[in-house]
Amino acid sequence: MADLRKSYIISHGFDESGRLHLQQWLWNMQLGWDLHPAISLKSDGETKIADHGCGNGAWLLSLDAKFKNSNMSNVSLVGFDLSPVHFPAPENLPNNVKLGVLDAFAENVPDEHIGQYDVVHVRVFTGVVKNNDPGPLVRNAFKMLKPGGYLQWDEFDGGSWKGVAPGDVHQDSSVSISATTEMLKNALDSSRKAMNLEYSWIENLGKIFQEHGLEVLEHKRMDAKKELRKAMTDSLLMTLHHVSRIAVRNGCLVGTDKSWEQLWTEAGKEIEQGVSLTMDMLITVGRKPL
Ligand SMILES: C[S@@+](CC[C@H](N)C(=O)[O-])C[C@H]1O[C@@H](n2cnc3c(N)ncnc32)[C@H](O)[C@@H]1O
Repeated sequence: MADLRKSYIISHGFDESGRLHLQQWLWNMQLGWDLHPAISLKSDGETKIADHGCGNGAWLLSLDAKFKNSNMSNVSLVGFDLSPVHFPAPENLPNNVKLGVLDAFAENVPDEHIGQYDVVHVRVFTGVVKNNDPGPLVRNAFKMLKPGGYLQWDEFDGGSWKGVAPGDVHQDSSVSISATTEMLKNALDSSRKAMNLEYSWIENLGKIFQEHGLEVLEHKRMDAKKELRKAMTDSLLMTLHHVSRIAVRNGCLVGTDKSWEQLWTEAGKEIEQGVSLTMDMLITVGRKPL
């Protein structure tokens, strides 16, 4: 099994779990739903939903609350992660929510999970997918789905980070974004080098779904809503702070002769004047043939 400490750059502390709760709020505010409206579930019989890389289970818990407010009572929610470090205590989870350890890219999916799920969900693997290839995970998800089941993947495009001045994206602004842009470019280049990350697979995810036998119902790129930019900025700064510290420690802060503190201080002055950090959000939904 992969070693998360070597293969995943983000912190495993309480700060990251807190950020994952913020991330759940952000996606929910952007989309207005947890499960894509094209996903149609039968209200009779048992429905099973799996979430790969579930972190602290925030998406599953939000989904569970929505099901409990609807007429869907017989739903089992199963979260998998390579590390259980953010899992809530099992005693504090609803009876129909179970979390366990599983490598989403494992060569063999355990038999007990084959053909079992109505929906498999993946969210924010932009810093997880290696070699620009999400194929092994799509293949595993396909195996786990029942015929007619859905794969829903919600993603940030880690290659689209940008600084934006207050107001509309194309509006002229007197507020400079140059220090923020420099800090972002440096953090992006450094994390790419530190963790061997590439991002072009994200735009191609619809095509990759098709290549693995899924019928694509939606593949859509969105700007994050303007009113979510503050939360997006806070979330990205938390991630970048951690990534940059690791890059400095590992001696791979690249593309600059400035110190990390200097870059962040200069960007911070712009952010105090309302400059935001943002990146594109993508939704890809596919269906396994009946
Ligand atoms: C950015 S977090 C996203 C968490 C959650 N999906 C969400 O949106 O709130 C990425 C998660 O993927 C997990 N992860 C990293 N590598 C993994 C792997 N090979 N298999 C399963 N989970 C993995 C991390 O432990 C972390 O919880």
